[in-house]
Amino acid sequence: EKGGYDHFMLKEIHEQPRAIRDTYRGRLLRDKAIIKMAGVEDNMKKFLNADRIIIVACGTSWHAGLVAEYIFEEFSRIPVEVEYASEFRYRNPVITEKDVVIAISQSGETADTLAAIKLAKSKGAFVFGVCNVVGSSIARETDAGAYTHAGPEIGVASTKAFTTQITVLTLMALRLARAKGTMSSSDFRLHIQELELIPQKVEQLLKVDEHVKDIAKQYLLSTNCLYLGRGYNFPVALEGALKLKEISYIHAEGYPAAEMKHGPIALIDDRMPVIVIATSKGHYEKVVSNIQEIKSRKGKIIAIVTKGDTAVKEIADHVIEIPESEEAFSPLLTTIPLQLLSYHIAVMRNCNVDQPRNLAKSVTVE
Ligand code: F6R
Repeated sequence: EKGGYDHFMLKEIHEQPRAIRDTYRGRLLRDKAIIKMAGVEDNMKKFLNADRIIIVACGTSWHAGLVAEYIFEEFSRIPVEVEYASEFRYRNPVITEKDVVIAISQSGETADTLAAIKLAKSKGAFVFGVCNVVGSSIARETDAGAYTHAGPEIGVASTKAFTTQITVLTLMALRLARAKGTMSSSDFRLHIQELELIPQKVEQLLKVDEHVKDIAKQYLLSTNCLYLGRGYNFPVALEGALKLKEISYIHAEGYPAAEMKHGPIALIDDRMPVIVIATSKGHYEKVVSNIQEIKSRKGKIIAIVTKGDTAVKEIADHVIEIPESEEAFSPLLTTIPLQLLSYHIAVMRNCNVDQPRNLAKSVTVE
């Protein structure tokens, strides 16, 4: 049932090209240059009249929400707030009938997310669900939704659910951008073409597995780890850190790269691995100067760069190359090596990768 892989997590990491294609199926129609999403189209008025979108979720799904915030604001020009469901539900939040709430959940059973939905509905908001498990409580409780179609995710650490959540939310943002006219039809067409190439790029990228394993060998005894990213890749840094914590029990923190100087830089010494996402279009020069700051404090740098990069290669201890793409879509690529890195470190530390201690696949109690 693990399809020849040692763990479900590794199988699910490798399933991502297929999972993303399944998420596109029937929705991303490149030849016609359209995106079809019934759940969005049937409720277009709600989306177009929305003062703002509030995203509620927990854990990895919350990270997908953060990526979506950048994408929705860029493409569809709708203000977005992203909230931990557990905070939102107990804060007496200001919600009106002009709010659209998007709830993201792999399992569709997370207690806090479900409670946040009920609260938003009671205040008259329109609630849209992005779930993986068909017929789950959240899928039933929401007014409309779009499934991720990732297939069953067995490993407790979320992988393909995360990338397919981002995929669905990206399709939504593009669909709304067309409806609102915030993106020209030629740009829209270009974005669709780029998006369609993502699964094959992920496929290619998965070949870095052995290289990532070699890097993992050198850091398996680390006790701390810092992840930095900026823009679309700031949430990926958070997700990379969460993955490492969950399955290898190494303390890790994710930070927006520019925030490093406001505190975490104090932690950097020759025993601190720092994973930096430095894609060519993502505030590149600024991130390169962060890398120099880490280097001058003897931190160990593992950099995720775009193919063809030269500057970072000269300074970093290790580089992992990802295929070139539209920056807004790069989280679907940069996430992959971070998943593999935490997987290999955890395996080498003899951790129970698929069922890490103290964690459950769906958190049905608050
Ligand atoms: C991370 C992880 C958790 C879940 C969180 C939300 O790998 O598995 O952080 O992402 O418990 O779960 P769902 O998406 O099912 O609501």
